[in-house]
Amino acid sequence: MNIVLIGYGKMGHEIERIAQERGHRIVCAIDIDNTELFDTEDFRTADLAIEFTSPSTALQNYRRCFAAGLPVVSGTTGWLKHMDEIRQACDQGQTFFYASNFSLGVNLFFALNKMLAEKMNAFPQYEVRMKEVHHSQKLDSPSGTAVSLAEDILKNLDRKNTWVNYESKKAGELSIVSEREGSVPGYHEVCYESEVDSLKIIHDAKSRAGFALGAVLAAEYTLGKKGFLGMHDLLGF
Ligand SMILES: NC(=O)c1ccc[n+]([C@@H]2O[C@H](COP(=O)([O-])OP(=O)(O)OC[C@H]3O[C@@H](n4cnc5c(N)ncnc54)[C@H](OP(=O)(O)O)[C@@H]3O)[C@@H](O)[C@H]2O)c1
Repeated sequence: MNIVLIGYGKMGHEIERIAQERGHRIVCAIDIDNTELFDTEDFRTADLAIEFTSPSTALQNYRRCFAAGLPVVSGTTGWLKHMDEIRQACDQGQTFFYASNFSLGVNLFFALNKMLAEKMNAFPQYEVRMKEVHHSQKLDSPSGTAVSLAEDILKNLDRKNTWVNYESKKAGELSIVSEREGSVPGYHEVCYESEVDSLKIIHDAKSRAGFALGAVLAAEYTLGKKGFLGMHDLLGF
């Protein structure tokens, strides 16, 4: 497959390595300082774009890909308020695969989190809270993965009606504490605590390789498909 990389940072480099190992070609790697590559034949004739940039630039990049009819796989977080525009574009024939987290382990963690929230709905003595830790260059807070986890808790746990990105004592609020330090690739924790015990589920990424492999697998899955796709399509859960 001929792949355009948009965003040639930490994830872009890791995706390049894994895509090449799996026999794909990177036909151009677009970064903030060479955006003129959007106007090249290599961009227009590629099979697909993989986009990992920043919350403020992602939407513009998707529009440029759609204008060239290029399917997009993206993992950029922090832009989701524009999701309606992307879904509409998909209804009109574009192809977009999105995951707030591409790692297999995190997607198993999402399934566990949903199941635990469903069970905990019957046990109000447990208070729930979340924590996420990432490297200090991360631009968005809370992480996109933490938002996905929180939304799943809100859907399944009647006693919580909103999430907040600080430690809250209000009964209906789900606290997400975000910490930024060093080079942590991604740590997420959901904790239920009663007076007598606590129950925690944790996902702790060891490197970016799991995210990058997931993005390349998503690209392989997306080729030849249409519409809006996600990890539930790729993994079947
Ligand atoms: N879904 C997942 O599994 C997953 C996993 C990890 C990360 N992420 C997300 O992916 C995004 C990127 O993460 P990262 O760790 O790779 O960050 P990063 O190292 O900062 O890389 C982002 C790259 O995109 C470049 N860029 C900025 N604006 C651009 C534009 N308009 N066109 C092309 N390139 C542009 C940046 O250039 P400059 O540095 O020069 O600005 C940088 O090289 C973040 O939103 C992060 O939260 C998602």
